[in-house]
Amino acid sequence: MNPQERTPLFTGVVEHAKQNPVQFHIPGHKKGQGMDPEFRQFIGENALSIDLINIGPLDDLHAPHGMIKEAQSLAAQAFGADHTFFSVQGTSGAIMTMVISVCQPGDKIIVPRNVHKSVLSAIIFAGAVPVFIHPVMDTTFGIAHGITTSAVRTALEKHPDAKAVLVINPTYFGVVANLREIVELAHSYNIPVLVDEAHGAHIHFHPDLPESAMEAGADMSATSLHKLGGSMTQSSILNVKGNLVSPTRVQAVISMLTTTSTSYILLASLDTARRQLALHGKEMLAQTIRLANQARNQINQIPGLYCMGQEIVGSEATYALDPTKLTIHVSELGLSGYQVEKWLREKYQIEVEMSDLYNILCIITFGDREKEIQLLISALQKLSQEHYNNQSITKVPIYLPEIPVLSLLPRTAFYSEVERVPLKEAAGRTIAEFIMVYPPGIPILMPGEIITQENIRYIYENVESGLPVLGPEDTTLEYVKVIIKHSAIQG
Ligand SMILES: Cc1ncc(COP(=O)(O)O)c(C=O)c1O
Repeated sequence: MNPQERTPLFTGVVEHAKQNPVQFHIPGHKKGQGMDPEFRQFIGENALSIDLINIGPLDDLHAPHGMIKEAQSLAAQAFGADHTFFSVQGTSGAIMTMVISVCQPGDKIIVPRNVHKSVLSAIIFAGAVPVFIHPVMDTTFGIAHGITTSAVRTALEKHPDAKAVLVINPTYFGVVANLREIVELAHSYNIPVLVDEAHGAHIHFHPDLPESAMEAGADMSATSLHKLGGSMTQSSILNVKGNLVSPTRVQAVISMLTTTSTSYILLASLDTARRQLALHGKEMLAQTIRLANQARNQINQIPGLYCMGQEIVGSEATYALDPTKLTIHVSELGLSGYQVEKWLREKYQIEVEMSDLYNILCIITFGDREKEIQLLISALQKLSQEHYNNQSITKVPIYLPEIPVLSLLPRTAFYSEVERVPLKEAAGRTIAEFIMVYPPGIPILMPGEIITQENIRYIYENVESGLPVLGPEDTTLEYVKVIIKHSAIQG
């Protein structure tokens, strides 16, 4: 028997529930009996029967030794890792674990400027010093790709004492850098590579998809099984490989960040998602890739629409593309991505993954069939018939803000006393909050950085162009929170 056919955790909880034990433990709904009847009926008895807690026979995610340990080992085997840790706190929890496992207070970590907020949160928790790298911008789509090997090389030459390099691979839009090359470079400095693989849970399972973090030799990857791997929302995995990172340290950190009431429904869904990927991933993904490519070709024949494809591949930042992501550029229709998202919802009950000023993003997974794809195509054809020939929207050139000077550790800034000052007069002050512009979703300022006149001009320029500037408590952007300057007390 192929060991990947086994689901020790899922089978274990189901067998336990079948024995119908009398429960004097939490959860207090006790197999649903004590639950609001409408919800109980809706959710169903099966789900409630395995909504259990870490009693003796069911192992413990905080110190796995039984069915959870076995399930994690099978996942490690499937993903080509030495160790896999299950997360019931999403990939955010796994990312924070990666960063905190390798960074101590004052340690440097090399990260792209467009990282997910969980990376920035972890930098604050760890007291680490971020060394930012600008991602490469795509001027057609107005989105950020990944970071290049050359940029990582420059960062490592300047900061050979960094404790880790973090890479987003693939990006939300399915673009990857030459991860293997970045890993080899970082390893030549004995520095581990941590991969935010939130959008790449499936790529390990089909040879036509970009190389996964573990295949490329990375040391850790936070991989959202719930996004594209078929498990339930909030469940994720953290893969560890090689000897630059201590798995016992990772276990200790993930445990510190995890609830003691871990959901067995989420854990069991990780176990079965892994089985499905390991046994059937290749054939299921072959079909997914076929459907996505078919959709891409059809979309590219619709007047006014452009769906990103393999033609973007070939630069240092665009080493390969995951074809299952449909990034559809809509500005030639005279509409923004937001307007198209709303139009699809209202007219066709279609919900896209996300939209920005110029694009919508649709993800195709092995949950899709021909029927859904054709519905999307018909909707987009109708959209084009209604809107093409209108003028295309005036495109705002999207360029990157300068990365400001960090005057305080983000953690120190986070814990400092703050005051609100008018943004117009804030040059020279140290900011205590985030300000970012979306697209491209890159922080203009983060806690601890010194605001410059150039930053203020950039913010106002973006607001005037209609680009959403987000982050500060004062959403009107009139005021900004800065660190209080204490002047000397007069004697
Ligand atoms: C690039 C990236 N990293 C990390 C995450 C966090 O994943 P999760 O929602 O599973 O916590 C996301 C979520 O959207 C993401 O887009």
